Amino acid sequence: MAISYVQPLLLLLGSLFFLPALRAVNFKYCNKSGYDFGNVTHVNISPNPVGPDVGELNITVIGYAKESIHTGSIEVYAKSENITDLLRKQPCTIESGTKFVLPLSEVPKDILEGDYKYVVSLLDEKVGDSKEAKVRMCVDFDLPTSSSTLSSA
Ligand SMILES: *[C@@H]1O[C@H](CO)[C@@H](O)[C@H](O)[C@H]1NC(C)=O
Ligand SMILES: *[C@@H]1O[C@H](CO)[C@@H](O)[C@H](O)[C@H]1NC(C)=O
Ligand SMILES: *[C@@H]1O[C@H](CO)[C@@H](O)[C@H](O)[C@H]1NC(C)=O
Ligand SMILES: *[C@@H]1O[C@H](CO)[C@@H](O)[C@H](O)[C@H]1NC(C)=O
Repeated sequence: MAISYVQPLLLLLGSLFFLPALRAVNFKYCNKSGYDFGNVTHVNISPNPVGPDVGELNITVIGYAKESIHTGSIEVYAKSENITDLLRKQPCTIESGTKFVLPLSEVPKDILEGDYKYVVSLLDEKVGDSKEAKVRMCVDFDLPTSSSTLSSA
């Protein structure tokens, strides 16, 4: 009989203990269907949720590459209907057939009006003879703010 209330209690304690460590956010591929370049398995954000007085975020994008990028860059931006704010751009190199972990630390937090997303885009600066960087992979996600977690308290 005791079991019947011990188990829910353990479950509750378990979730209280593990929730703060669970930093993954739901993301989408910017082009909806995914990319030939490879896939993304996790997007982690720290801190999560992002409190109102947080100024900087650490974002980590983890996935598998089927192709290489030798002269690449990662861009992080906040994007709403009318505004795109570039928050970070850093060089990167990825070898095909590897698991990649892209740590983007201390990205400034940016809150835009209306609906907006954070976007992490992986660019190849040299594709053939083209002068334009090509998007090889791109994901977007909502910032996990505390207000969206505790809906209208
Ligand atoms: C997404 O990009 C891949 C190439 O990486 C392409 O094959 C696919 O058609 C694109 N999807 C959309 C919806 O544009
Ligand atoms: C991503 O690609 C790797 C390697 O090809 C594969 O093992 C893994 O299942 C894929 N994951 C997802 C979420 O598509
Ligand atoms: C973000 O990363 C930096 C450098 O790795 C680290 O010092 C800092 O504690 C991290 N902040 C959070 C909120 O995870
Ligand atoms: C974006 O700009 C369009 C055209 O100027 C305007 O109609 C719309 O209200 C703007 N959206 C936001 C969220 O400000």
